[in-house]
Amino acid sequence: MNAMTRADEILAEPIVAPVLRANALPKPQLLSVEEAKALDIPRLTDLFKAHLNPGQFHFMKLLGFHKVKIERAEGMHYIDQNGRKILDFFGGFGSLAFGHNHPRILAARQRFQDEKRHEIGMAFMSQYASALAYNLAQCSPGELDMVFLGSSGSEAMESAIKLAERAAGPRKPKIVYAENSFHGKTKGVLSVTDGQLYRGEFKLVDNALRVPFGDIDAVDRLFRADPSIGAIVLETVQGGGGIIQAPAEYWQKLRALCDRHGVLWVADEVQCGFGRTGRFYAFEHYGVVPDITALAKSLGGGKAAVGAMIAKRDVYMKAYGTPKTAMIHAMATFGGIGEASVTAIEAVNVLYDEHLIDNSAEMGTYLLDRLKVLQAKYPKIIKDVRGLGLMVGLEFHDFSQTLPMVLRPVVSVLDDKLKGSLSGFVGALLLRDYDTLVAFTEYNRNVIRLEPPLIAERVHVDHFVDSLDDLLGRGIVAIVKDFVKSQMG
Ligand SMILES: Cc1ncc(COP(=O)(O)O)c(C=O)c1O
Repeated sequence: MNAMTRADEILAEPIVAPVLRANALPKPQLLSVEEAKALDIPRLTDLFKAHLNPGQFHFMKLLGFHKVKIERAEGMHYIDQNGRKILDFFGGFGSLAFGHNHPRILAARQRFQDEKRHEIGMAFMSQYASALAYNLAQCSPGELDMVFLGSSGSEAMESAIKLAERAAGPRKPKIVYAENSFHGKTKGVLSVTDGQLYRGEFKLVDNALRVPFGDIDAVDRLFRADPSIGAIVLETVQGGGGIIQAPAEYWQKLRALCDRHGVLWVADEVQCGFGRTGRFYAFEHYGVVPDITALAKSLGGGKAAVGAMIAKRDVYMKAYGTPKTAMIHAMATFGGIGEASVTAIEAVNVLYDEHLIDNSAEMGTYLLDRLKVLQAKYPKIIKDVRGLGLMVGLEFHDFSQTLPMVLRPVVSVLDDKLKGSLSGFVGALLLRDYDTLVAFTEYNRNVIRLEPPLIAERVHVDHFVDSLDDLLGRGIVAIVKDFVKSQMG
């Protein structure tokens, strides 16, 4: 008797390749992954200019960054096409707390892939998104324990201001934001982002009111004058504004004012959170807890796009706490997606296991101390150094003030136009001559931003400070000449 079951029969049937229809869609001329990796600089330049951002290329060229193609990245360094190691003191504006390609984060992602786990979490409860939300609640003080997951800082902040608006209710629709704020470029948060460059000619909402950052009396006056204010949104440390902190007592007073006037405080910790300033959240330095906060950047472990909004439960429930309201701002397609969530779960664990928050505080103090010595050495060039943990700003004087006395009156009329030029020269030459990358600042272009990975060690800080010392030691005239020469080379 033939013991073969129907299932065996099916498995034994030969697989016939489908016949392609004669009119099958021809494949466009596409690049493969391997071809993408192997693009040389001329071809890469063509593609970037043709399909991404020709205007941005102009800035890269000005700084000499267009000559670099990154082949690999590991720890504190990028490695370019010539095998040159570039020390990363830019850190993706705070996105690289763990440095590049941290082995534990890579391994967690690799295991997830090998086990063929699922990504999209909309149909079933996701164990990954749920565990990440739990972890974030564990890291958050007070009653901050309801989490929304998204794919960027902008999305996290969008969800934060939407939540605040709904929880505050229709009688308190106005939102206060700060001068020099940056909360993202998507259409909603643009209304509370202060940069004219980004706001452009876009039509923005008319329920946003602006106050100077760090001025508690201005907040007090506004709250008293307008009972329709329902929320105030503030970066705890302003990043795009040039690493600006409010006075310490500001935050206690802000909390009290918000409570008195029934205003929800939204703390944007996208750049300054996740250990960057030496505490998990920067607001923890001041012993206060906001109603809603947001994280992104390093939350994705430097490998995944993850943003999170974390809110007090009662605020969250007011807005979305019933079956009827639950889906109003439920997570989007990629919110809480599997591998990104697992990456973030591992990232939070590594942050504590490797004591990176403590390291940020320690290395930040060391960096600031060394920069203060440099400021004393070059008082005509460096106007200020400031920061908290490894979120540090170094501000140059206006260009005319760095020049010999006789040139100052002539050049000072150009100071506004020349804003950012010295940071540009320094940034370009740090890369060219010292293999070091730093970041610029949107609103105050005289500031270079230093947000190295939180794995930074003294040797990295020393390399950066010694390089800057050596460069500034050339004197401004030589720096300008060297920069101009680099443009011609
Ligand atoms: C304070 C702050 N909020 C929001 C954002 C927006 O984040 P993303 O670029 O991930 O959308 C940024 C980005 O730099 C930021 O610094």
